Amino acid sequence: MTVPETGADTGTEALRPHAEDAFARELQALDRADDRPRPARWRLSPWAVATYLLGGALPDGTVITPKYVGPRRLVEVAVSTLATDRALLLLGVPGTAKTWVSEHLAAAVSGDSTLLVQGTAGTPEEAIRYGWNYARLLAHGPSRDALVPSPVMRAMSGGTTARIEELTRIPADVQDSLITILSEKTLPIPELGQEVQAVRGFNLIATANDRDRGVNDLSSALRRRFNTVVLPLPASAEAEVDIVSRRVGQLGRSLDLPAAPEGIDEIRRVVTVFRELRDGVTSDGRTRIKSPSGTLSTAEAISVVTNGLALAAHFGDGVLRSGDVAAGIHGAVVRDPAADRVVWQEYLETVVRERDGWKDFYRACREVSA
Ligand SMILES: Nc1ncnc2c1ncn2[C@@H]1O[C@H](COP(=O)(O)OP(=O)(O)OP(=O)(O)O)[C@@H](O)[C@H]1O
Ligand SMILES: [Mg+2]
Repeated sequence: MTVPETGADTGTEALRPHAEDAFARELQALDRADDRPRPARWRLSPWAVATYLLGGALPDGTVITPKYVGPRRLVEVAVSTLATDRALLLLGVPGTAKTWVSEHLAAAVSGDSTLLVQGTAGTPEEAIRYGWNYARLLAHGPSRDALVPSPVMRAMSGGTTARIEELTRIPADVQDSLITILSEKTLPIPELGQEVQAVRGFNLIATANDRDRGVNDLSSALRRRFNTVVLPLPASAEAEVDIVSRRVGQLGRSLDLPAAPEGIDEIRRVVTVFRELRDGVTSDGRTRIKSPSGTLSTAEAISVVTNGLALAAHFGDGVLRSGDVAAGIHGAVVRDPAADRVVWQEYLETVVRERDGWKDFYRACREVSA
């Protein structure tokens, strides 16, 4: 297997272009090929949005690269939810592509993934509703000119998709400012005696991490306004290897790292180690092992391999080898220096050491953890 081609356009100087720019060519091709009905202000039909996410081939020969690798049905439910008056909540453990899917959905539906509120414990109500430009407010009093709309407000008046990241980290009273927006589709501005009414096409995608203290804190009033889609961990090792090599290929290109089709064995190894430690059992189902404290998500596997590629490119012979991924794996697994270290040592001695063809990797890991 080789590292698959990316559909991402090159030629942009941004370190990380927005999805709608990175995949502009694919979105244009879908727009041309799409003859199905589009909901109000949608750039594409629900079918084309799902194809953009899941990948496919168009009649004109354009290949749409898969952005999300996972159950088709989940994507269909997510896309069709956005065409209703209910908002979409993407839920899952860390690294299951919630943010990634949310960005691509907004890019495909509205052509704009930038109307984003990052949820934190300190997110104020202004971030969801609106704030004021104080210089203008003091000079001219409250007016529409002095008002600074939030991304949500802009999505409402433009009939586009707003995104809220990590919804359940936002304090409950601030979260509740979404209730009126989602149920009445309006945002009152009492200071002006006005309101902003959502235009057709407006909807909201929120993400939440179910490892966070979180989702139970979502008030039931708010939860009823959302359809929840749970994004699972990759079903099989092969699926996960596919995801990791795709994303590493794309990231490597934007960092000018050489493509590393020879590195597929190391990618497979990283994924195997992560899955075994995550599941608490070896892939043959024979040996139980302890799991470390941190999450070993697909996202971490991607960064371990990308870092390994950078090591190989700059300090090695350009081929991804055991020594290049060992340090990254160690760092990802041993988060808690005491407990995780024991877990890792035990895994190295009982599993890695005995495995055929894993001698180099065993040695490299021993070196790092010594
Ligand atoms: N099933 C998948 N298909 C495609 N890419 C995936 C998949 N799972 C993980 N990824 C990749 O993992 C990376 C991390 O995903 P993302 O940041 O969206 O995770 P998240 O669920 O938002 O995590 P967190 O809870 O930490 O915010 C992305 O680069 C994404 O491409
Ligand atoms: Mg996220």
